[in-house]
Amino acid sequence: VFVVRTDSRRNFRSFAGVSSPTDAELVSLADYEREAGRRLDERARAWIDGGAADERTLADNLAAWERIALAPRVFSGATEPDTEVVVLGRPRPHPLIIAPTAFASLAHPDAEPAIARAAEATGTPMCLSTLASVSPSALAAAVPGVPRWFQLYVFRDRAITEALIAEAEAHRYEALVVTADRPVLGARDRESRLRVRGAAPPPGTVTTAEVTHTDSRIDPGVRWSDIAAFAADSTLPVIVKGVLTAADARLAAEHGAAGVIVSNHGGRQLDTALSGPDALPAIVDAVGDRIDVLVDGGVRRGTDVLKALALGARAVLIGRPALWGLAVDGAAGVRDVIELLLAETRIALMLAGAARAAAVDPAILVHSPWSRR
Ligand SMILES: Cc1cc2nc3c(=O)[nH]c(=O)nc-3n(C[C@H](O)[C@H](O)[C@H](O)COP(=O)(O)O)c2cc1C
Repeated sequence: VFVVRTDSRRNFRSFAGVSSPTDAELVSLADYEREAGRRLDERARAWIDGGAADERTLADNLAAWERIALAPRVFSGATEPDTEVVVLGRPRPHPLIIAPTAFASLAHPDAEPAIARAAEATGTPMCLSTLASVSPSALAAAVPGVPRWFQLYVFRDRAITEALIAEAEAHRYEALVVTADRPVLGARDRESRLRVRGAAPPPGTVTTAEVTHTDSRIDPGVRWSDIAAFAADSTLPVIVKGVLTAADARLAAEHGAAGVIVSNHGGRQLDTALSGPDALPAIVDAVGDRIDVLVDGGVRRGTDVLKALALGARAVLIGRPALWGLAVDGAAGVRDVIELLLAETRIALMLAGAARAAAVDPAILVHSPWSRR
């Protein structure tokens, strides 16, 4: 049985001169969001919490989980939850994975290695971004025990791409996550407004100029044949991240992918795109028996995790919540965020009468009677 709560928050260190909240004030991911908001400067906040354009998808990522109500079963006889799941053929102690997020140094100077330490301590796979503040080899050297995936942006210069894949293979990453939904950067109005006003970047972080420079090097013209080539040439299983239709999920399977992540990039790319729980059913129907289907976007509660599992996802990824934990208290904050979400997941599994995470009955889900749609 995986032990959930620890006293990690007791080691709270004050960061950036902001007074420490008490344990009692940090009992949910929303508390971490609020607390991170107090600690980050407005540019970092816009970068982390912002979405694309009118942020309809950003908002819907939360609303979509709420549109689903739970019809719990009782007297299943289970005495404790079993959170184990199998992802890419490997048993995992629970269904949470850290999503790739660029430039974690914007949230806290300890950056990705701190996220990795929290991931290691909780048995959580961490997906490192191509645009991280540390290289794949540096992260592996800093935290050799973390189960790790590498998120790949395909560069116009394929030699860079191949070198990154080779680095991930050499440093025992377990999967190559190729992001599909960012041929170009989304319309990031929140960030653009701040740039116009000339807000200064937080010290020690990547500047807009460097992001723009990296952007022009990312290849907007990636094709399915590239995915087939990565799958054939790499020793790592390939997961395609950012799929929202059954048609693309089928193409991923046909081109050798071992999995797809149903994702709209946290509402940061195509505004008004579908949210995970709305896109999942058709994708699970189309490919769920052939490849692993994962989901991300707006997962903030154990009940969201439960709903994702009931919809047929094998696991869920969390993006912003890890950065909020990092901003509030470095590795200890990330660890607490993971443990809070996991504790809620265990409660939800028991209360829904669906004690086994690997076999949640879809019949516990109903369209919520209070939803306006
Ligand atoms: C600040 C930030 C940076 C991100 N950077 C990347 C990235 O480099 N590569 C990528 O594939 N996805 C990136 N994403 C998207 C996440 O991997 C994930 O899909 C999304 O954050 C999930 O939604 P959530 O934040 O609501 O949990 C980023 C998201 C955020 C918030």
